[in-house]
Amino acid sequence: MKTLTFSNNHEMPILGLGTWKSEAGKVYNAVKEALKIGYRHVDCAYIYGNEAEIGQALSEAFQEGILSREELWVTSKLWNNAHHTEDVEPAIKQTLSDLKLDYLDLYLIHWPVMFKKGVHMPQSGADFMSLEELPIIDTWRAMEELVDKGLAKHIGVSNFSKKKIENLLAEARIKPEANQVELHPYLQQKDLVAFCQQNGVHMTAYSPLGSPDRPDRLRTEDDPILLEDPTVQGIAQELGVSVAQVLLSWSIHRGVSVIPKSVTPSRIQQNFDAANLALTSEHLETIAALDRHRRYVAGAFWCPEGSPYTLANLWDE
Ligand code: A2P
Repeated sequence: MKTLTFSNNHEMPILGLGTWKSEAGKVYNAVKEALKIGYRHVDCAYIYGNEAEIGQALSEAFQEGILSREELWVTSKLWNNAHHTEDVEPAIKQTLSDLKLDYLDLYLIHWPVMFKKGVHMPQSGADFMSLEELPIIDTWRAMEELVDKGLAKHIGVSNFSKKKIENLLAEARIKPEANQVELHPYLQQKDLVAFCQQNGVHMTAYSPLGSPDRPDRLRTEDDPILLEDPTVQGIAQELGVSVAQVLLSWSIHRGVSVIPKSVTPSRIQQNFDAANLALTSEHLETIAALDRHRRYVAGAFWCPEGSPYTLANLWDE
């Protein structure tokens, strides 16, 4: 499988298993199945609430000789309630303990959004703190220390705009090596992808299939259904593959890592096989024309009345 090269020549397999929304009771099997199929990249986060179950699958897979720790790339993310410098190391240690690992390959700041201490999920605008009160660079200094201590091999961010990445690149001692954002044909973010790729920041696409199982609070009436897009359906039919496979292959052709979530063994296999699917430049041009800057994870949940966050200052657009 194609890989993206990080510092020290560490290689991240371009396609990994996503675990956001992977339910308890199902994610264990999904991870086990994926590792047996050949996945060597698993994307996790503290807030997904399933890291302990994933850790069970990982440790068993190592014990059973399916793969070694060194062959696997594991990413996780710092939650919004742990941005204070003294909270960062305990947060990664909790994740490492749940995942039953000694180190992460990649640890990301999950959102450029901060909650007050003790808030797990905000109930009102009063539960937030602004980035003026605790600038991202302060959190980043604590992230850098995780690399110094060997707890994370690489560090990066998620849901960061070009402007926020630029600011961080200017001040960081250890540069962010990854930015994980929502990316698919309806939200191509060409400027952000180009800027990051030119500056040594690898991109990872979340919700690459349009997140059809996203929670109701992220749904609006006029949401387009990416997996039913007629143009992508046409390409899939022509190639005798599934729409999901075309979407994943499209991301890989952009040099963007992709982490489709599935808890269904046949889909886990199908998605893995997409890493070998070749698209022509004509297919890529056709898909490039589908861009409509449409977010499924719009971020409005961080912007209730009284919150310092607005859609404008969240995405810087
Ligand atoms: P399930 O987990 O029940 O198999 P995203 O990665 O964009 O968030 O999308 C995840 C959603 O897409 C889940 O509902 C998942 O279902 C579904 N899904 C994953 N792979 C495929 C596939 N190959 N074909 C159709 N749906 C898929």
